[in-house]
Amino acid sequence: MKIAVIGTGYVGLVTGVALSEIGHTVTCIDVDPRKIEELNQGIPTIYEPGLGDMMLKNQQRNRLRFTDQHRAGLEGAEAVYLAVGTPQRADGSANLQYVEQAALDVAEHIQKSVIVVIKSTVPVGTNQRIKRLMMQHTRPGVSIKIASNPEFLREGSAIHDTFHGDRIIIGTEDYETAHVLEEINAPFGIPVVKTDLFSSEMIKYASNAFLATKISFINEIANLCEKLGADVEEVSKGMGLDHRIGNAFLKAGIGYGGSCFPKDTNALVQLAGNHHHDFNLLKSVIEVNNHQQCLLIEKMVARFGSLHDKRIAVLGLAFKPNTDDLRESPALVMIPKLVELGADVVCYDPIAANQGARWISEPVAYTKNVAESLSGADCAVIITDWPDIKRMNPETYVRLMRTPIVFDGRNCYPIPVARKATIEYYSIGRPDVV
Ligand code: UGA
Repeated sequence: MKIAVIGTGYVGLVTGVALSEIGHTVTCIDVDPRKIEELNQGIPTIYEPGLGDMMLKNQQRNRLRFTDQHRAGLEGAEAVYLAVGTPQRADGSANLQYVEQAALDVAEHIQKSVIVVIKSTVPVGTNQRIKRLMMQHTRPGVSIKIASNPEFLREGSAIHDTFHGDRIIIGTEDYETAHVLEEINAPFGIPVVKTDLFSSEMIKYASNAFLATKISFINEIANLCEKLGADVEEVSKGMGLDHRIGNAFLKAGIGYGGSCFPKDTNALVQLAGNHHHDFNLLKSVIEVNNHQQCLLIEKMVARFGSLHDKRIAVLGLAFKPNTDDLRESPALVMIPKLVELGADVVCYDPIAANQGARWISEPVAYTKNVAESLSGADCAVIITDWPDIKRMNPETYVRLMRTPIVFDGRNCYPIPVARKATIEYYSIGRPDVV
C-alpha cells in the first residue's frame, strides 16, 4: 500500500521505516528541511539500535523516501499516519497544536479520500475531533476515515518492539476502515485488537499509567524494605513469579523518566479532572515518583552532612540505557540540586553526554570514560544502568576514587559483590554496605 507518515520524530521515523520494511511504499513528511536532508542522506536523526540499517535498506529499495513537501509526499497515499508530538502544557494537559496543524496540512493537500491514522498519544475524544476538523478543510468530494493506532514501542528497543509487540490496537468508527488497517499491519504477525476510537485512545493512556503505577508501587515497597531490613530485589522476584502480577516493571530505582510516562500520567490526571473525576491513585503515583528522583540526594546529605566542594561522579545521564534521551531523566533533577549544594559534578554517559549541554545549564564537567569521572571523586552516583557501568568490577571504585562511596539508583551490583569489593554502597530498597 502507499502510505504517508507525517512527522519524523521518534514514533514517526520508526513507523515509516517499519512499514516500508514489511513491503509498503512509504513517504515520510516533516516540516524541518534539515532533518529531511539528513534522512535523505541515509543518516537516522535519532539513536536507535537497528534503525539505521533498516532505513538505508528500504531507501535503496525505493520503498522509503523523505520530503518536506506535503503535496508531493501525500500524492497517491491511501493511508496517512499522523505521528507528531503531543508535549505537556504547563497545566499537565497534552498540547495538541502539532496534531491539529498536521491534520490541517493533510486536509489542505490531499486530492482523494484517505484513512487518517493517529499514532500520536492523544486524549480520549481527539480522534473524532480531528476528523471533524479535517472534514471542514478538505476539498469537495474528498472524505476522511479516521483510525486510532496507538504506539507501544520503547525507546532503545523500538525496532524490536515494533516487530515483536504484544498487540496492535486499532480503533475505528467502521468495520471497513478497521479491516484496511488490519491488512496494512498483517505482515507484522502481531495479534490485532479492533475496537472503537475512544477505547483505543484510552488503552494507550491506561497502559502507560498502569506501568508507571507498577514502578511507583515497587519503589514504595523498596523504601519500606530499607526501613524493615528486607531486600526489594528478592521481593520483586518473589512477587513477579505470580503470573497474575508478572515480573516486568517491578525493578525498583530512582523513578521513571522519559518522554512518555511523566507526560501521559499528568495528561490522564488532567483529563480525568476535566470530567470531574479525581484520579487520586495516579496523583500518588506521580508524587511517589517525584520524591523517588530526589532520594539519593537525601541519602548523600545524610552520609556527608555537607556536599560542599565534594567531587561527585555522576554515572549515566539518559533516563534509561540504550538511548541518548535526557527528557525527564532523574539526572535533570539531581544535577541542579548537587550543584546548588556546592558539589563539583563530573558526568559520564557513553551516548548521552553530548546532549548534556542542551539540558543541563549548571557548570558541570563531562568525561569520555568512567575511569576519568571516578578519578579522585569523593563519591559516585549511578543514574543510568548502562551495560559498561553494570559490568564494571566494583573494585574499580576502590582503585580510582578518593573515597569509594557509591550511591546506586539502579541496583547495579549484588550486595555480596559490593561487600567483597569493600566499597561503601547505598542502593535502593536493599541493605546498606558500610
Ligand atoms: C514507555 C512504554 O514502556 C512504552 O510501551 C510506550 O510506548 C512509551 O512509553 C510511549 O508511550 O511512547 P519508554 O518511555 O521508552 O516506553 O521507556 P520504558 O522502558 O518503559 O522506561 C520508562 C522509565 O521507567 C525509565 O526511566 C525506566 O528506567 C523506568 N523503569 C522501567 C523503572 O524504573 N523500573 C522498571 O521496572 C521499568
